[in-house]
Amino acid sequence: MSDNLLEIKDLSIEFRTYDGVVKAINHMTFSVPKGKTVGLVGETGAGKTTTALAIMGLVPNPPGVVTSGSIVFDGTDLLKIRESEMYGYRGKKIGMIFQNPMTSLNPVYTVGHQISDVIKKHQKVDKNEAWKRAGDMLEIVGIPRERLNNYPHEFSGGMKQRACIAMGLSCNPQLLIADEPTTALDVTIQAQILELMKGLKEKYKTSTIFITHALGVVAEIADYVVVVYAGSVIEKGSIREIFEHPTHPYTQGLFGCLPDIESEESEKLHVIKGSMPDPMDLPKGCKFCPRCDKAMDICREEEPEDILICGEHSVKCHLYRKEGTE
Ligand SMILES: Nc1ncnc2c1ncn2[C@@H]1O[C@H](COP(=O)(O)OP(=O)(O)OP(=O)(O)O)[C@@H](O)[C@H]1O
Ligand SMILES: [Mg+2]
Repeated sequence: MSDNLLEIKDLSIEFRTYDGVVKAINHMTFSVPKGKTVGLVGETGAGKTTTALAIMGLVPNPPGVVTSGSIVFDGTDLLKIRESEMYGYRGKKIGMIFQNPMTSLNPVYTVGHQISDVIKKHQKVDKNEAWKRAGDMLEIVGIPRERLNNYPHEFSGGMKQRACIAMGLSCNPQLLIADEPTTALDVTIQAQILELMKGLKEKYKTSTIFITHALGVVAEIADYVVVVYAGSVIEKGSIREIFEHPTHPYTQGLFGCLPDIESEESEKLHVIKGSMPDPMDLPKGCKFCPRCDKAMDICREEEPEDILICGEHSVKCHLYRKEGTE
């Protein structure tokens, strides 16, 4: 058996809207090894959330349609199973912390009610035991258990996000998908949440997909990095491979504008000139080509294949074509 808990291969997803077809995910391939954290990095609109939703079987259809590929979780292709079977995975074997905590917390129920509901659903325990375990979960994320009786609006932004992490972990998932869990928070709270997630990673050895647009955050938490651009993986490798030898001009650009990790990262992606192509009108050839200083003729014509650099490090870029593979 493979050491990968999740294998996404050749995944393509488009949104068929009245204005046109949005090619959000284009032949995406990457894996999540058991017990490891994969940082999915890319700028806004790159397709990170859509990838996460696809794994959870939550891409809205219509307008979303999966047009190719497979998402194999522990030996099962999630794209091939029925919705009723998906219940056994979503929120159970696969937990998700959503980009905006308010979309996962219901304002009309107490936090304790919501966390214990998840526990009751997945752990076959009675109401009292579920409430007790919900308190345990809240304490794990650093919130006193007495706060179980509070409503979400009585929590600060950071506490809400912590509560979402507690909820995401309550089902004791094999895979946790955390979609920008720190972006909406101020820097100190961000650092606290990252510390918390690092601690949980050590403790529970849950495989995690950590979605972010910030390389600095990835450095803190990930074992592997997957760089996404216009719905495709343009470079991937171990954290060391990527941080010591960023290879794709886009990844190099991301590093080029990385300020020291302590400072705010809000502007750094914009230092790479231009912007991501319109997913309704993707360029022929390499999708990064229009912004690339090193673009050659072939880049405008042909989409590059994955090229293995070394170990687990691969890149989609014509600059690294091996001689004689024309
Ligand atoms: N329901 C939808 N209908 C139409 N287009 C959509 C829909 N959902 C996402 N898209 C498009 O798919 C592309 C990828 O969006 P996605 O939300 O996955 O990006 P992201 O990488 O998560 O961005 P961000 O960093 O801003 O969260 C974007 O062009 C977006 O506009
Ligand atoms: Mg997103």
